[in-house]
Amino acid sequence: MDTEILVVNVDEIDKYDKELDRASDVIKRGGLVAFPTETVYGLGGDGLLSDASKRIYEAKGRPSDNPLILHIADRDDVYKLAADVSDNAVKLMDAFWPGPMTLVFKKTAIVPYETTGGLDTVAIRFPIHPIAMELIRRSGKYIAAPSANLSGKPSPTKAKHVIDDMMGRVDAIIDGGAVDIGLESTIIDVTGDVPIILRPGFITDDMIKQVLGRVEYDKAVLLDEPDYTVKPKAPGMKYKHYAPEASLTLVRGENGAVSSAFAKLIDEAKGKGLRVGLIVTEANRDITGADHICVIGDRNNLGTVAHNLFGSLREMDEQGVDVIFSESFSEEKLGRAIMNRLLKAAGYSIYDA
Ligand code: TXA
Ligand code: MG
Repeated sequence: MDTEILVVNVDEIDKYDKELDRASDVIKRGGLVAFPTETVYGLGGDGLLSDASKRIYEAKGRPSDNPLILHIADRDDVYKLAADVSDNAVKLMDAFWPGPMTLVFKKTAIVPYETTGGLDTVAIRFPIHPIAMELIRRSGKYIAAPSANLSGKPSPTKAKHVIDDMMGRVDAIIDGGAVDIGLESTIIDVTGDVPIILRPGFITDDMIKQVLGRVEYDKAVLLDEPDYTVKPKAPGMKYKHYAPEASLTLVRGENGAVSSAFAKLIDEAKGKGLRVGLIVTEANRDITGADHICVIGDRNNLGTVAHNLFGSLREMDEQGVDVIFSESFSEEKLGRAIMNRLLKAAGYSIYDA
């Protein structure tokens, strides 16, 4: 398949009518378009068309029991797709839409089971990225979109990542530059009395508590070691995820102890003839001895860490390292989402410094 690359400058979106029309025509015809959102790039198709959803699973190499998120650009559309919209859901929509939050509802009959992976619930998100909004509006469709990576790879935060994974597998890729947040949306199940976080993200538990007074986590989210008897409520959270090719270990402890542990771990790995990658924050950028070092951001500004996380993992793959050692973060606020992704990427491998 030929993949057309459509470059759109997000700051001058009104100058890109031709590109946006082409992309929305592809969606209208049942084809696939990768596009930027504020969280990560998505791989979009007409979410009410079973065939388009099937093509999405094929393009990603994704198991078809892993449901897709439906993206809307008008919040009233929720009432067409969700059978029951609770007061809690309305409060969350008022507070955080459009934005990086996905809500899980009971689905209506128009949503095909191919899109929901056979579930009676549907995940809905109203993104705030201008290109995503424009693509949804122009196509006149609800766009089903998982992250635009090959299944198992880190989510794409730049057009280059999408091109690396999806060239020849989709009809078009909109290159709208780097995304803003860098981690996927917070997913909240609002089908019961108490809202449940199924996947942590930029919208934190504190922010949700401020609106609803109460929120819980799905048990599977809180694990800090794999437990295959706990089945996550978001089916996608059970798969090996975000994984770089090299084996990743998170190094945990006070900063002084962490830098000495890095020195020891680098020595040991080099002694075995391995190529070593290091993922560090600004404060540790001068550590020597690794074959490749990648600065993930500033520990005092976790937004920078979220923004660079998936790109850092991809960079390590490009550098062909065998093992990666990374700093870890405390699981507060945005740190919860960052550690959720890092722990999965590391297969829960932790070294206590
Ligand atoms: O930020 C995001 O959410 C990005 C952008 C493109 O919008 N999308 C994204 O989609 O991360 P994906 O497919 O990579 O992750 C969707 C997650 C999966 O873990 C899936 O299992 C879960 O959402 N999910 C989807 N529908 C669900 C449902 N009805 N019930 C529970 N979990 C659901
Ligand atoms: Mg994904």
